[in-house]
Amino acid sequence: MQFRAVKGMNDLLPEELRLWHRLEAAFVQQAKLHGFAEMRPPILEPTQLFVRSIGEVTDVVQKEMYTLTRGDENLALRPEGTAGCARAYVQHSVLSREPVTRWYYLGPMFRAERPQRGRYRQFYQAGCEIYGDAGPVADAELIAMLVRLFRELGIESLKVKVNSIGNGESRSRFREALVEYLTPIAGQLSELSQQRLERNPLRILDSKSDADQRLLEGAPSTVSSLTGEDRAHFDKLCAMLGAFGVPFEVDPKLVRGLDYYTRTVFEVQSDAGNLGAQNTLAAGGRYDNMIAELGGKSVPAIGFAMGLERVLLSMGDRVVEAEPLCALLPLGDKGTVLAASLAGQLRDRGVRVELDGRDNSLKSKLRRADGLGAGVALVIGDSEAEKGVVQIKNLRASTQRECPLDQATAETVLELTMSGKDGQNPSPPAAESQG
Ligand code: HAM
Repeated sequence: MQFRAVKGMNDLLPEELRLWHRLEAAFVQQAKLHGFAEMRPPILEPTQLFVRSIGEVTDVVQKEMYTLTRGDENLALRPEGTAGCARAYVQHSVLSREPVTRWYYLGPMFRAERPQRGRYRQFYQAGCEIYGDAGPVADAELIAMLVRLFRELGIESLKVKVNSIGNGESRSRFREALVEYLTPIAGQLSELSQQRLERNPLRILDSKSDADQRLLEGAPSTVSSLTGEDRAHFDKLCAMLGAFGVPFEVDPKLVRGLDYYTRTVFEVQSDAGNLGAQNTLAAGGRYDNMIAELGGKSVPAIGFAMGLERVLLSMGDRVVEAEPLCALLPLGDKGTVLAASLAGQLRDRGVRVELDGRDNSLKSKLRRADGLGAGVALVIGDSEAEKGVVQIKNLRASTQRECPLDQATAETVLELTMSGKDGQNPSPPAAESQG
């Protein structure tokens, strides 16, 4: 019997992962440059954590969570990272140690959505969360960080959309005005929007139905309904985005699908990668009420998460060369014993070594070394072992020379560096600078 991966969940094979590693490293570098430290919350959390924070009437909670019951515990595979980080922030009384906290995280999330390009059931997010800073400088800085990262990765046609949905009074006033506007025309709205009118009217603003969007043309607007501090916060955010050099547009219909947002919400989209409706690479916003709702003090918070698969699709087909590789090819028992210690010495110097200890012919071992993209092969047969030498083959230049065993490590490092000079292996082995 053969098994296949669960629908919407992908195997990530080593070749593909090279580009993933590049993206993850670029994200971690930017996160650190912006003062974030890594946080790793568990993948399983109490289901109620997500119900309370994301909101009972959201698609994520109503339709998309993978839940399980074990004993008397109801658990869910995390559909996102914000709720788990917030739970941990409260649980560990982080506020008592520092007034402002910056955390980043990276890992798999699970949502039972209909799989398509850029939308999966297990997908990876990299996210950042800031606690204890009410913004709007922090809001603008987070958005600017995303833009920096995407530019550095060479992603084109970026579009930054921002909005503010207010908080407290201006939010409830807006909600009332929207319901008042939509109620007389409710019968013309799509079925989904009719349901939302009662339970979650703000979500009607980002309805995918053209007819709904036409009906919304005269509706009150989020940003123009902002008052007092909410207005000032949003105006400063826009000014600060200018200061950070981030081109953006205000989208008064942007509300996002998670209920915890207050004030700032944003998205970064790209037309690259044929992502269609899945072109939102990263999204986030402020959630100033969540920490208190989860039993902590009233601490303002903001964050974003980007979908790694989507970012990779918009980076296009890029070839990331493997690190330089040395193939160590022993023949016979004595050669194999020497090769074992030579492998250790090479690895001590930071050289990536594939030791081919199979009982195969030299020809087949060389074919495999070639297939692996090794720049250099070291051959040690029993006669070499007796003479205390090793054959160094530069597989790119097709040259071969004999070298004393005690110089083999240094000579291999040199040869690998030379073999990279033809542009095939851009980086020399890490240990080259160690002498
Ligand atoms: P979200 O908008 O649900 O926000 O997801 C953020 C990003 O994750 C999306 O823009 C997308 O790139 C990616 N994503 C979401 N669902 C899928 C999927 N099924 N397949 C592939 N990629 C997907 C959040 O998750 C919030 N926690 C963001 C946040 C952090 N807000 C404040 N802090």
